[in-house]
Parts: sequence; C-alpha cells; structure tokens
Amino acid sequence: MARSSISKKDTLKKTVSSKLQSSSDFQPEESKIASTSSGGETGLQKLFTDSIKDIYWAENHLVKSLPKMINAAASTQLQGALSDHLTITEEHVSRLEQVFESLGKKPKAKKCDAMEGLTKEGEGVIESTDAGTEARDQGIIMAAQKVEHYEIASYGGLSQLAKTLGFNDISDIFERTLAEEKEADQLLTTIAENSSSTSTNSNAGTTDEEI
Ligand SMILES: [Fe+2]
Repeated sequence: MARSSISKKDTLKKTVSSKLQSSSDFQPEESKIASTSSGGETGLQKLFTDSIKDIYWAENHLVKSLPKMINAAASTQLQGALSDHLTITEEHVSRLEQVFESLGKKPKAKKCDAMEGLTKEGEGVIESTDAGTEARDQGIIMAAQKVEHYEIASYGGLSQLAKTLGFNDISDIFERTLAEEKEADQLLTTIAENSSSTSTNSNAGTTDEEI
C-alpha cells in the first residue's frame, strides 16, 4: 500500500500551519460568511472540521463492514473489487489522519448516521438473499454503490470547502480520494454489467422464474 512520504507530509503540515497562524488567511473572503460559533472558529471552519470527523467515522465504519460484503459475495470478480476497495479505504483513513495532523488536530470521529444506514441496508440485502446467487451479488453491488455515491458527495463537498478556506493542499488530498471513489463506483458498474450479460446469455432459452 502506497503511503505519502514523510517529507511530503511535512511540507503539507508546514503550509497548513502557516495558514492557521495567520487568522486572516483562515477567514473566508466574503464577510457575509460571518463567524457564527464560539472559540474563534467560524461557522464555515466548524462545518469543515465536523465534516472531516463525519467522513472519518464513515471510512472507519466501512473498514469494518466491507469484510462482511466480501465474504457474502459469490463472484470472485466482485470479491476482488471489494477487497481492493478495503485496502484503498484503509488508505483513505490514513489520509484523513494526515489532514487532521495538518490542521493541528487529533483525529476524531463523529458518528455518521448516513453511513450507518447504508451499511445496515447492505447487511439487509445479504440477509434477504440466498448465498451464491446473482441476486445477492447484484444487491451487494447496489449497496456498495450507494456507499460510493455518499462518499463521492462528501469528498466533493470537502474538497470545495477546503478550497474556500484556502487549504488547497488539503483540497488536493480530497480530490485524490474522490477520484478513487469514482473509480470504485465505475468498476462496480462494469461488474454489474458483465454479470447481467453473462446471466442473460446463460438464461437464454430457459424458462427460469428468477434471473
Ligand atoms: Fe473511501
């Protein structure tokens, strides 16, 4: 698993630290985005850190949930894609820890109700389908894609928020993760399409009630 080099991390930390030292740099340009919270943190800054805590909880939760999906999947292609994504998800957790460090904060998770719901839905699909069936694999793909779409929305928003606050290096980190989430989503679509065409071919001329 590729990890960012120490020197790159240090450079990022220095850049962000210098931004934090200058409170005027941390203020949004438009005064209409006014300070709304106590402790010297603007509403926008609080939204930013809260959103990072939210996705940090979500990614950690996914690290625990993905193995259940991998074990339940029938196709080796789907198992492989989910296993690869588990490795990437662990890297996303590390990247978020790097972001916390750059901001001079300890990594802290804030429960993400959305991710909890999405993974519960995935477990529900596994419970309501038979092992080794295409229905289960398609259900797992759909559940995993719902997770990806949530992450795509989150990282897209975080990247923009980082830019607005002047943290361009952090925005780049979120963009890297965003690209990987999009790739995972696309791969799942391809697996679903392949599976569907294989199923159509293998069921041609049959009178199976369930495809
Ligand atoms: Fe992720």
